[in-house]
Amino acid sequence: MEKVQPAKPPTPRDVLGVPAVPPARASAAGNRWRDRVLRLHRRMAPPPLQILESLFGILEHGVLVALCEAGVPEALTRPMPVAELARRTGTDADALERLVRFGATRGWLRIDRRGAVRPTAVTAFLHRDHPGGWRAWVDFAGGDDVVGAVRRLSASGGADPFAAANGLPFFEWMTTHGERGAAFDGAMEAGARMHGLVLAKALPWTSPGSVCDVGGGTGALLATLLAHEPGLTGTVLDLPSVVEHAVEHDRLTAVAGDAFESVPAGFDTYLLVNVVHDWGDEDAVRILGTVARAATAQARVVVVEAEATARPVAGVAVATDVLMAALTPGGRERTAEEVRALGERAGLRLVSRAPLASGDVAWTFRTG
Ligand SMILES: C[S@@+](CC[C@H](N)C(=O)[O-])C[C@H]1O[C@@H](n2cnc3c(N)ncnc32)[C@H](O)[C@@H]1O
Repeated sequence: MEKVQPAKPPTPRDVLGVPAVPPARASAAGNRWRDRVLRLHRRMAPPPLQILESLFGILEHGVLVALCEAGVPEALTRPMPVAELARRTGTDADALERLVRFGATRGWLRIDRRGAVRPTAVTAFLHRDHPGGWRAWVDFAGGDDVVGAVRRLSASGGADPFAAANGLPFFEWMTTHGERGAAFDGAMEAGARMHGLVLAKALPWTSPGSVCDVGGGTGALLATLLAHEPGLTGTVLDLPSVVEHAVEHDRLTAVAGDAFESVPAGFDTYLLVNVVHDWGDEDAVRILGTVARAATAQARVVVVEAEATARPVAGVAVATDVLMAALTPGGRERTAEEVRALGERAGLRLVSRAPLASGDVAWTFRTG
């Protein structure tokens, strides 16, 4: 059956809420300022309050998930009293109001001077039908499997918290628990659309050209990239239960496989986006080695993920590093030198490092 092009490729407004993908430098400067403001905000509170506020962080997760599960983002189509929002969502007005008041302090929605609840830009992004698809992250991160793994984080190290909590390692669990696998794939798709837009702008692409996205989920990154690069064709390689739900695009091919075993040969570019950080060093070298063997001397291998910096900065990298500690057996964010060294062990030579507007880094390797 002939595949059809998606009706409308995602735009920066859909995916990031901004009119255009910002330059990486501007986005990095913005993050540095947010880090400073956040540190100042924390230091303004006495130590006991800092401790309590940190522990109450668990409530941010719980309340956001509860508001979404109640269908608040979908029901809040215009300003309305809490009582009406409760009627629309079939919830208890008093219980809902307490969650809404907390949510208003976080900007997920707003309460105006007359006491009406109003949607914000964040409410729109939490809507189940929002084209950015970020709501899937609430469904994924709100699951008992993820919460159970995070609760088992420990300074002792060595264990696999996700497997300890759920009885199976992360990817085995996701491939055998359909609904949870779909929530995980949906969350990955949201980030993948963002990376598609960001990489279209950040890297040079040849036309005609071919890209293989290794561990590329359902192909959302490639579909976005192909929409911006008409001369490219793409192949997404992922586990069978994932590519079964691959997005449709006339220049996209989905291949079921195991990146530890083999990767299709002959592509101009191999992408590994948030894949290396899922694994400990030995496994990461095995995957990179499979890719290195498939790549010709002309091909480039692009690893995209957050970079661990010498001084921790509040933001996605420190959070995803701990998330990897909770969800995977050995996954982690790495420093630039660690990424270079992994590539070298796999027979790949680092040729460039490009910071991205997403806050991640694209490391480009060659085989020769
Ligand atoms: C963290 S996700 C990243 C997905 C995508 N690259 C992105 O950034 O949105 C890791 C991906 O690796 C896939 N994966 C896990 N083990 C794999 C294997 N042995 N072979 C191929 N893909 C695998 C998972 O199914 C998942 O889609």
